[in-house]
Amino acid sequence: MNERQPVELAAAPPPPTTPLLYGLVDYQKDSLRFLEHLIERYGDVLRWRMPITIHIVNHPDDVKRILSAPSERFSKQTIDYKILSGSLGKGLVTNDGASWARQRRLMQPMFHNRAINPFDAPINALTNELAARWAQLAPGTTVALEQEMSTLTFKVVGTTLFGVDVEPYAQEIAEILEVINISTHELRALLTLIPWLPTPHNRRSHDAVRRLDRIVYGLINARRASGERRDDILDRLMSARDEDDGAGMDEKQIRDEVVTLLLAGHETSANALLWTFEQIAQHPEVEARLLDELRTELDGQPALSGDLVRLPYLKQVVQETMRLRPPVWAIARRSHQDEVFQGFRVAAGAYMMIMPYMLHRHRDFWPNPLQFDPERFSPKRTENRHSYCYLPFAAGPRTCIGAGMAMLEIQLVIANLLPRFKVTPVPGHPLEPAAKVTLKPRYGMPVTITPRH
Ligand code: HEM
Repeated sequence: MNERQPVELAAAPPPPTTPLLYGLVDYQKDSLRFLEHLIERYGDVLRWRMPITIHIVNHPDDVKRILSAPSERFSKQTIDYKILSGSLGKGLVTNDGASWARQRRLMQPMFHNRAINPFDAPINALTNELAARWAQLAPGTTVALEQEMSTLTFKVVGTTLFGVDVEPYAQEIAEILEVINISTHELRALLTLIPWLPTPHNRRSHDAVRRLDRIVYGLINARRASGERRDDILDRLMSARDEDDGAGMDEKQIRDEVVTLLLAGHETSANALLWTFEQIAQHPEVEARLLDELRTELDGQPALSGDLVRLPYLKQVVQETMRLRPPVWAIARRSHQDEVFQGFRVAAGAYMMIMPYMLHRHRDFWPNPLQFDPERFSPKRTENRHSYCYLPFAAGPRTCIGAGMAMLEIQLVIANLLPRFKVTPVPGHPLEPAAKVTLKPRYGMPVTITPRH
């Protein structure tokens, strides 16, 4: 730790602070616009006094300190994660401390490039199924793109976890996850923490978890009973052994990791895809350049993992979309010792909020921040950028374990569908983002799908 900190700490004033319950109504109406206003008015470090006081930190130097620190200093002991752990147990997202470190060590190799590159085959197969369905649509039919992408990414994550075994349960699991997600959001919005209270939210959410457990334990037990080896993530979870003590995961831990991966890997990727189609449709010059790259390099074939290095513009388009529309728009932490941010003192126990959505449009780090410009991510222009002002997958020890898999999936799906179909948002339909558990279009995203030839 910085040796000068005790002196700084003693002298440091508290951050600029809002009145109690400041913006309660405006926040409910349009959280993003309200949070933008908060930062404009109070600066990059502020105390927002809601029923719980939340410390917002919006300077990349401070964000770096928080996200790169060990959990004894900044943990996930927050309300959001407590609520989530009701359904995810001690899976990677909600776990903390030594138990998290062990699980992360066991699971990291399952997400190395080498391990995920072979998922290009199921991703392309499932995307081809979707394309076949789109090809049958009557001209001018409107489809709900958020639903289409959600179904696709659910099938992808389900298949990479369980292989074909998931098919009979896919629809039911997707519906259950939706209930868990909505309950999480509603509960978070209430900022209460009484999980045993039989409110309609809690009853619905408990029922959903029970139904999900029946399916997931059923799939785990069936695999164990069959003695079969497969090349999917369930197999990797079941056969992982700790280098130090040779121990594997017990049944409950495997269940928690499976449910966590289903939830963490599904809606986030769906939203990234959704917004990528939307941004491409709004920027015809970007669409033309991307189509040119895809046609030149792929010649009408779906891309494989190994092709992606030859498609740099595709990656830049996805990166720029996630700058303006980061699916994970906020990240929560709890401080465990007194700290100083930008000269202001933040006490131990504080609830911290980092917002990729705000960092990604910080005027000091992004010239002309509201303009969609994939060239920002060309190697030359990325070189000197602060590495903590672009955080779609967070950073530090708890960076998204599925980032490589998500990027693979998003790029392969766009490379497969864009040359075959023109996706056009219904004119006049509002497409503003809303900060739910993930960043979603507030009123959905109806689009028309037109085959290109
Ligand atoms: C575009 C898609 C995705 C985005 C934007 C995203 C974003 C994130 C972010 C920001 C975090 C850090 C949260 C925090 O520290 O509070 C995270 C963690 C995590 N993500 Fe993702 N994610 C995506 C896709 C995936 C996929 C496909 C998987 C797996 C199949 C996945 C699994 C996880 C897990 C397990 C964690 C917890 C890691 C840990 O704490 O050790 N994510 N993700």
